Amino acid sequence: MDVKANDIEAIVRQVLSSLKEGNASAPSLEAVPSQKKTAGGVPKTARVAMLTKLEHFDLNEYPVPALGDDDILVKVEGCGVCGTDAHEFKRDPFGLIPVALGHEGTGEIVAMGKNVKKDSAGKPLNIGDKVVTCMIFKDNPDITMFDLNKQNVGGADVYGLLPDDDKNHLQGWFADYMVVKGGSTVFNVSDLDLDSRILIEPCAVLIHAVERAKTTGILRFNSRVVVQGCGPIGLICIAILRTMGIENIVAVDGNDMRLEFAKKMGADKSVNFKNHNGVEALAEGVKEAFGGYFADFGFQCTGSPVAHANIYKFIRNGGGLCELGFFINGGDAQINPHFDICAKEITTVGSWVYTLRDYATTFDFLKRAKAIGIPLAELITHKYPLEKINEALEMNLSMQGLKIAIVNQ
Ligand SMILES: NC(=O)c1ccc[n+]([C@@H]2O[C@H](COP(=O)([O-])OP(=O)(O)OC[C@H]3O[C@@H](n4cnc5c(N)ncnc54)[C@H](O)[C@@H]3O)[C@@H](O)[C@H]2O)c1
Ligand SMILES: [Zn+2]
Repeated sequence: MDVKANDIEAIVRQVLSSLKEGNASAPSLEAVPSQKKTAGGVPKTARVAMLTKLEHFDLNEYPVPALGDDDILVKVEGCGVCGTDAHEFKRDPFGLIPVALGHEGTGEIVAMGKNVKKDSAGKPLNIGDKVVTCMIFKDNPDITMFDLNKQNVGGADVYGLLPDDDKNHLQGWFADYMVVKGGSTVFNVSDLDLDSRILIEPCAVLIHAVERAKTTGILRFNSRVVVQGCGPIGLICIAILRTMGIENIVAVDGNDMRLEFAKKMGADKSVNFKNHNGVEALAEGVKEAFGGYFADFGFQCTGSPVAHANIYKFIRNGGGLCELGFFINGGDAQINPHFDICAKEITTVGSWVYTLRDYATTFDFLKRAKAIGIPLAELITHKYPLEKINEALEMNLSMQGLKIAIVNQ
């Protein structure tokens, strides 16, 4: 028999791929005739970074489960590492181990059930579209962003913070593939580049905070705004304020590198609290940075109770404050109710996570910020492949960078 070199190569490929496929025990996607799929097909297995014990991820290979008619299979392109992931890695405060983490993720649709037609904003969804997920409303899967201006994520689940499911481990974005189950919220964000898509979730936190701040009626175009804390949260806060037209922004932190970055994001001046002895001197430093005025409004973006107590001193009588620095309990703060709140008549709002509607606003913000030249993508200082997830988390904890991300090849 005359076998050409090309034929041999094809036969070897076929044998190798059937051997690989033979290892998978779960029902194959091929077995579900109603699904739409990519021309390239769908793998039988996918790697998932599973936090199996404190400070340790294993890279486990799991079968890709069969999709239901309302489900979507997404090939993960990237996912940011969040402070919440770092808390889980260090201490597992939510008691989730073993858990597939990663909730700031994005990727491309490679297969979807026959009922999937539109995203949560009514935009068509097709194979090849780039998507992000938001909340999972178990009790009300028909929710869209138009129904939900007020309820925030506190009342719902999110991918990347779910208890592990034996039938489908593909529930976190630190993975090769993710299954978006019917009833989850999903957005088509094909018009945003990968870095912007990775930043959507943390930016939504700040879009929500600014919306909360606006309810005080104090935040205006010409307001003097102090942003305390220049981690990713404070820096994105500055970028949003600048993008919406607020120009008089003073950043406060103890890290000069971060304060320099705050200027790139749109801060006018910066104050290093370590250069001031005591809160009164620090307040004078902030006043000086505003040209002799206290702030009209403050955003508290640190998880430090002392910083919470300090920020009242930077705000003028009748001013406003948005406290968003405590995603989790950081302890009690000591303030003087007379001097800090009553006598000054400060209007305070708290802010926690975001609503679906904030997600849509975030997509527009990211485009506008780019258009006016704010280098938001530079916030992502470190990118790691999935295999290096343990190092990525260590880097996050070392606080040497800003936003750390897993980016798949
Ligand atoms: N409201 C929400 O829904 C929400 C969502 C996400 C994160 N958060 C919270 O936001 C906070 C900030 O997040 P991040 O990722 O930017 O954290 P981060 O730790 O990277 O940044 C905090 C910054 O605050 C600075 N800082 C500390 N003490 C200070 C002080 N006394 N005065 C001035 N600056 C001080 C630090 O130098 C650091 O740069 C966290 O505590 C987190 O829990 C809240
Ligand atoms: Zn997050």
